[in-house]
Amino acid sequence: MSIQFNRRDVVRGMVNGAVGLALTPTVFSQIGAPAGKIALRYNENPYGPSTKAIQAAYEAVNESAYYAPIPLQNSLLTMIANKNKLSRENLVLSSGSVEALGAAFVAWGKKGQILIPGLTFSDHFNYSRKMGIKMKSVPLKKDLSIDLERMEAAVDDNVSLIYICNPNNPTGLTLDGDELRDFCRSVGGKATVLVDEAYNELTDNPTYTAMTDLVRDGENVIVIRTFSKIFGMAGMRIGYGMARPDHAKTIIGHLVNYPNVPGLAAAKAIYDDQKFITFSRNKVLKGRNMVIDTLRTNGLEPLTSQTNFVYVDLGRDASEFQRLMAERNILIRGAYDGYPTYSRISMGRIEELEIFQRVFTEVFNS
Ligand SMILES: Cc1ncc(COP(=O)(O)O)c(C=O)c1O
Repeated sequence: MSIQFNRRDVVRGMVNGAVGLALTPTVFSQIGAPAGKIALRYNENPYGPSTKAIQAAYEAVNESAYYAPIPLQNSLLTMIANKNKLSRENLVLSSGSVEALGAAFVAWGKKGQILIPGLTFSDHFNYSRKMGIKMKSVPLKKDLSIDLERMEAAVDDNVSLIYICNPNNPTGLTLDGDELRDFCRSVGGKATVLVDEAYNELTDNPTYTAMTDLVRDGENVIVIRTFSKIFGMAGMRIGYGMARPDHAKTIIGHLVNYPNVPGLAAAKAIYDDQKFITFSRNKVLKGRNMVIDTLRTNGLEPLTSQTNFVYVDLGRDASEFQRLMAERNILIRGAYDGYPTYSRISMGRIEELEIFQRVFTEVFNS
């Protein structure tokens, strides 16, 4: 069975709606991409999922009376293993990467504290704290990059896990691959390093920036990836981890769910689709240049991003600016704790970003 729809019509409807419609609050107003809104707030990728992935998911819905079939899980695991020159024992599949991140925090948090950068991705922190996990935060450098030297100095006998998000969210800044490699090797004797590579495929040099070679070498490193970003499957909730077999086993033992059947089928259809990866990456990079141009035209200089979002000091209350943009149907991030004037803007479709360019300039100068 095949599905027929015209993506361009869907997008045109959205964009027209974004200009004309007012906010209709619903119970779901905090998630998803509400009709008539341009969603530039959660680092999603509206160019996904690919048509092949949608087709695979659609067909897999027929099998959804059953838990995920082992052959489907195995064939996705084999693809991930082959691409990363790892074995299946090195791998974890999870319901979104945030599940694997939370599982690792809980598993290692039972043995000691978790070291985190002062500003980083934190969706798994809340759950971990409620599970009694203790975290110790290390301030960023002045330029808002992660301070590896200070993090290493903060590793004492109580620290069991070090969380490094590379590129970091919300800053978009990326640690140099070899500097992070040296850090991982150096601290690995004392604590495990958990590297969140959600945006790896969007970095300037994904292979150099990735820590998968350390996993292959059996180092004390866990790498977590996701199908939510470059593959544009955030709503399908598939993530994966790569680690030493003993670490992979520990994470699997702390997962709370099983990956869903349509998501797995879509992931399998998209994982080796280099054409889609290149297409998706090119759209993100083009969109990012558009957003950077707009910010610069307005006298702002965003941090250097190797992701599908940019972080910028607006020089004014970022949450108030978020509200003003939302009134114009464009949803961006407001202030983070400790950074009241910084906003994070995610990439949307090119035609959505054209509207963003105009609206941002109007709101910023009003
Ligand atoms: C750095 C980072 N890690 C993980 C995630 C969560 O991704 P997933 O959808 O796979 O749970 C995000 C989502 O924004 C993220 O920014």
